[in-house]
Amino acid sequence: MTGTGGASAVGDLLVSPYNNLEAAQNLIAEHASDLAAVIIDPVQRSILADRTFMQGLRDATTKHGVLLIFDEVVSGFRLALGGAVEYYGVSPDLLAYGKTIGGGNPIAALGGRTDLMDEVREDRHHTNKYVWAASTTGGGPVTTAAAHAVIDILCAPGAYEHMYKMGALLREGITKTFSKHGIAVQVYGQGPLAQFQIADIPIVDMETEATSNYHLRREIDLEMVRQGIFINPMLTKIYVSLAHDETAVQAYVDALDTAVGICCK
Ligand SMILES: Cc1ncc(COP(=O)(O)O)c(C=O)c1O
Repeated sequence: MTGTGGASAVGDLLVSPYNNLEAAQNLIAEHASDLAAVIIDPVQRSILADRTFMQGLRDATTKHGVLLIFDEVVSGFRLALGGAVEYYGVSPDLLAYGKTIGGGNPIAALGGRTDLMDEVREDRHHTNKYVWAASTTGGGPVTTAAAHAVIDILCAPGAYEHMYKMGALLREGITKTFSKHGIAVQVYGQGPLAQFQIADIPIVDMETEATSNYHLRREIDLEMVRQGIFINPMLTKIYVSLAHDETAVQAYVDALDTAVGICCK
């Protein structure tokens, strides 16, 4: 991917392995003078970043004067009302949210340190402290109202307790089902997030995830559809919402039991 000015977004990107603090520290130290920012998904699909990794990234970026950005499209309003920032107790310099707050409407939001966000102001135009941000639909009244409504609902007492409880119940149900069928499984995720892979070793990054039996997992997901439970059969993660209760979780677990029985006989 090459821009007209010859800059390459891909070429300019350095990738560090997930949850490997030493590798990230070394990469940041080595390239500090060239780095604009370090960006991380605090939950990579369903793999949680370690607490020490998150704090270590904050410390290393602060030490080298590099911005830290959280992509909270998955973690935002899911791990907690305050997303990964609240869950880890680590504050980035900038952060981005996505669909979680839209209640099905297309929306994204960004935020950050007051001094940085203050640069996104039209009256700074033609100064050297001006960041251009434009959007055709940004601030649209319908999606903004939807986001306010979603946040009001999430602020209700017990909302996160319910989602955490249902998420834990679901992960436990998945674990027990595979155990009953004698199949090695790794069940992971936190709060309302649940994911599983047919694998022998704990899933901590893309490499360990790649050791899993994708073929069998896909067969099971397809069988789940036949059993009346639609899960995107791209080995996707599951998000529990406030609409899910014990009955819904049990329906999933029962269907999984049948699907595993059919696919693993
Ligand atoms: C962590 C993360 N960042 C960014 C995106 C992109 O969001 P969108 O498809 O709304 O542009 C996604 C999409 O799922 C995501 O999971």
